[in-house]
Order: sequence, then C-alpha cells, then structure tokens
Amino acid sequence: MFGFLGPNGAGKTTTIGMLCTLVRPSGGAAYVAGHDIVGERDEVRRDIGLVFQDPTLDAYLTAEQNLRFHGELYGLPREAMNERIAQVLQMVDLADRKDDKVETFSGGMKPHRDHRSR
Ligand SMILES: Nc1ncnc2c1ncn2[C@@H]1O[C@H](COP(=O)(O)OP(=O)(O)OP(=O)(O)O)[C@@H](O)[C@H]1O
Ligand SMILES: [Mg+2]
Repeated sequence: MFGFLGPNGAGKTTTIGMLCTLVRPSGGAAYVAGHDIVGERDEVRRDIGLVFQDPTLDAYLTAEQNLRFHGELYGLPREAMNERIAQVLQMVDLADRKDDKVETFSGGMKPHRDHRSR
C-alpha cells in the first residue's frame, strides 16, 4: 500500500491524473512500468488498473454486457473475451447473475468506491 500525501492544492490529483494518462503534463517526464506516460500512453494504460471514484457500470446492461463493453474498450481479442468474462464473473461470485441488469444488484455487488474486498 502506498500513501500519496500533500497539502490541499499541492498537485496530488494532477500527478495521479498524469500517471494514469488522463492529464497531459505541460513539462517533465514520468514512466509507469518503464513506459513514457506521454509517448507510450496505450502501454501505460494496459499496465495499470484504475478504480474510479464513481461507478463506471451501465445500470441498464447486464453484468456480462458491462464486462464485454469494457473488454472491447481495452481491445481484448475476440477469442479471449468469453473465457475472460467467465473468469471474472467466477472471481467475484456473480456467475449466476451474469444475465441480470446491474440496476438489480446490491451496492456491494457493484465495484465502486465503497466496494469492500470480497
Ligand atoms: N506541477 C504543477 N505546476 C503548476 N500547477 C500545478 C501543478 N500540479 C498541479 N497544479 C495546479 O494546482 C491546482 C491544485 O492541484 P490538484 O487539484 O492536483 O491538488 P491536490 O493535491 O489534489 O489538492 P487537494 O488535496 O485539495 O485535492 C490545480 O489548479 C492544478 O492545475
Ligand atoms: Mg485532489
């Protein structure tokens, strides 16, 4: 676990935004897992996992449809998609709810900022 501390307005959010390639730095350089955050943005994105403060689920889609959508966004190869979706659903104990819309899920079943480890 890594704590990133500083006074209000010190630039923490900005720094994390740059390291996640969401904010373009006006100068300097930084590397994540050996990749330049400006020149190798896609490689950096592939190497990090980001949990957003707000849920990024589409409530009117099913659990499986949400995973498929994000898999497509991340460029997961078609032939790997079904297996990976099944693995993730298994991992979070939601395989039996894969065809249910996310709006029917309880808070703890959705990954968001209040998500407890399960
Ligand atoms: N390296 C920098 N040089 C100049 N301005 C910066 C730099 N980093 C951040 N800023 C500016 O400083 C302001 C505060 O930055 P930021 O929101 O990242 O701070 P923070 O540490 O997250 O603050 P808080 O603790 O209040 O959330 C923003 O307007 C941002 O654009
Ligand atoms: Mg901040």
